[in-house]
Amino acid sequence: MSGGLKERFIQLPQDFLWGSGTSAFQVEGNVSGERRTDWDDYFETDKGRKIVAPAEIGPNWWSDEEAEKDFARVAKLGLNAQRFGIEWARIVPEPGVVSREAIKRYRRMVDRLHSLDMLPMTTLFHTTLPLWLAKRGGWQYSGSRTAFGEFAKIVANEFGDIPVWLTINEPNLTVSFGYLNSYWPPGKSDPKAALHVYNNLIGAHREAHKAIKEVLPEARVGNANAIWWLRPENPKSASHRLMARLTNYIINLHFVSKVKESIDFVGVNFYNGYYIKFKPQGRIETDEAGLIKKLPFGETKKPDVFTSDFGWPIVPDFFLDSLSYIYKKFRKPIIITENGIADEKDLYRPFYILTHIVALHEAVKRGVDLKGYFHWTTVDNLEWREGFKYHFGLIGMDPKKPDSKALRRSARLYGEIARSEVIDVNQLVEKYIPNEQKREISQTVSRLEAK
Ligand code: BGC
Repeated sequence: MSGGLKERFIQLPQDFLWGSGTSAFQVEGNVSGERRTDWDDYFETDKGRKIVAPAEIGPNWWSDEEAEKDFARVAKLGLNAQRFGIEWARIVPEPGVVSREAIKRYRRMVDRLHSLDMLPMTTLFHTTLPLWLAKRGGWQYSGSRTAFGEFAKIVANEFGDIPVWLTINEPNLTVSFGYLNSYWPPGKSDPKAALHVYNNLIGAHREAHKAIKEVLPEARVGNANAIWWLRPENPKSASHRLMARLTNYIINLHFVSKVKESIDFVGVNFYNGYYIKFKPQGRIETDEAGLIKKLPFGETKKPDVFTSDFGWPIVPDFFLDSLSYIYKKFRKPIIITENGIADEKDLYRPFYILTHIVALHEAVKRGVDLKGYFHWTTVDNLEWREGFKYHFGLIGMDPKKPDSKALRRSARLYGEIARSEVIDVNQLVEKYIPNEQKREISQTVSRLEAK
């Protein structure tokens, strides 16, 4: 028994989905140069040119067998599901043109997943747009909703054997990074445009949902939401509580409330969380980890816990809070569509995985209808503006050498979890958690259970 942990066995539902996830752009690479998205274009501009070196081709999933080899690696661990993206710009490279070649490539991936007994879950929009659409104004263009619906229909017609669909990944980040703080393409800082884009994303989700359901009435359709959970800095203060509630609603849950009639589940991307308090100051500021520090009426504080290479705090208790709250509010099944950590040396990932699974189990014990957990990410990949600097993968690699792919030790821990009917938490702590983290994990787990 480690660090005073009492006997602890946890069990998740039999048909629970254990997977890992990727997005098309982050893993496919563009070795042949034929992909034309707004992000490919951005990486050719002065601002973007230095982010990725030409030799950094990353996991190279577009080339035959690279994706398939990674699927086999995670299947062997015992995972029974895989999230992957279908790149809009590949399927519809020009308006009105459908690429049979691209469809064939994705078909091979999906077939391989089936042959490995892995359930495929796909994402239709994950940050990147076809360049032709971006040139028409991207999500500001009035035809973007219909164009997205048409794309969804093409894919649904081809891939009737994909049972779970995510329309739009993290609409809140697309809006804030692309149209408020100009961090991502199209690099705008324009609240009016941001609002317009937000409404178009809601419309685009609905169009895609309708298109998929018309072709595949049995398919489960949702979207993936970035949940950056805020807790009141002082839970006894009514103004702090109000601030947390309002901010959680506006930045995390508003989109879900707008599309709740057209989702079968809520997709949750959870990485970290902060404290917040009421403090009028009229401006927005972000911290070194890119997270909100100041809001017009509030100020955030980073919890004093272990952090990732990105500087993000590890807060499984915030994860539990968010799941309970989201379920209570929407009464829809939940899929954890992303959860993971930038940790090149794999120092904290075992701690991260284990404590978040304990939190997940606590949520299930409280009645939350959880259908699956997709760890982010399958293999080290292109982390948007940060290039290949951060390593989120269960499979680690040197971005210049696809041959260097190797499972991290934490992937084995995750595999043991996925394979076990009954998970023996203490045994996994003993086996995977370094001694200097044992006290912290024991306290964290006890705290999660006491909540
Ligand atoms: C995104 C991923 C990204 C991850 C880690 C999520 O916001 O969906 O594309 O890699 O966070 O930053």
